Amino acid sequence: MAARIGGSVLVTGSNRGIGLELVRQLAESTSAPAQIFAACRDLYGAQALKELAQRHPQLLTIVRLDVADPVSISEASRVVGDKLIDGSLNLIINNAAINGPAVNNGNNPPGTLAVTGKKEMVDLFVTNAVGPMLIAKEFRSYLQKAADQSGPVTTGMSCSRAAIINISTLLSSVEKCRETFSMAPMYPYRASKAALNMLTCCLAEDFQRDGILVMAIHPGWVKTDMGGPNAPVTTEDSAKGILHVMSTLTEKHNGSLMDWEGNGIPW
Ligand SMILES: NC(=O)c1ccc[n+]([C@@H]2O[C@H](COP(=O)([O-])OP(=O)(O)OC[C@H]3O[C@@H](n4cnc5c(N)ncnc54)[C@H](OP(=O)(O)O)[C@@H]3O)[C@@H](O)[C@H]2O)c1
Repeated sequence: MAARIGGSVLVTGSNRGIGLELVRQLAESTSAPAQIFAACRDLYGAQALKELAQRHPQLLTIVRLDVADPVSISEASRVVGDKLIDGSLNLIINNAAINGPAVNNGNNPPGTLAVTGKKEMVDLFVTNAVGPMLIAKEFRSYLQKAADQSGPVTTGMSCSRAAIINISTLLSSVEKCRETFSMAPMYPYRASKAALNMLTCCLAEDFQRDGILVMAIHPGWVKTDMGGPNAPVTTEDSAKGILHVMSTLTEKHNGSLMDWEGNGIPW
């Protein structure tokens, strides 16, 4: 049975793009969570998020969190822990990510082999895979408390109970690489998101005994700074789809990769 997204939610990279829209739709939902922590790395640049927070002062807290900085992740965990109503956090959406390196010639996609070196590869791994790993580690005890409060593990898994959703991409799929590579030959992005997928599988195995669901969602090809102006999906439709898919998740989806319309994607 579908479960609504309730309790407390943390979204990373929520100052623009899909993250901002996820937070907006969560805050404006008739069944909004009790607490939304909208995380971003640059509080000064987060104008749209600040305006949203002003409209929902009881609900929405903006938290500084740079996913590429372990100190920032620890500090954000402490700040969120202090503000949680009962010490429990139900849902983390690891949305923040980067693509690159960009190229001067706008006709070429970012991250081709020719423009990628060690630094570019490492930078994308740090943000797209290491950050979500450290967030899972630092915030685990709050998720654990939320799961414990929902009764025994046998009562099932859901995003209302305790969950980590990693925003991945179709381009992360090793099986689909043959079909998708030529349209997006992005080495660091693909490899770092494939690493995020393995992290998702490891966490799903590790956390399932505690009743914490972990899976990954591809948001579609979305019109954002990252997706570009030619992308066919709006942030509104993508976020709506992601939230709907999340509301339907149960233990059978633990450790899986799905798209924003609810279709499974092979690893
Ligand atoms: N758009 C698409 O077509 C598409 C397709 C597949 C998957 N995705 C995935 O969907 C998610 C959202 O993408 P998007 O299209 O909304 O991208 P976007 O418009 O480029 O936004 C990326 C967000 O991530 C944040 N971010 C980047 N590095 C960060 C860091 N070190 N610490 C904290 N925040 C950081 C950015 O913050 P700043 O403003 O501070 O840079 C921004 O809020 C990503 O995981 C992406 O890989 C997108």
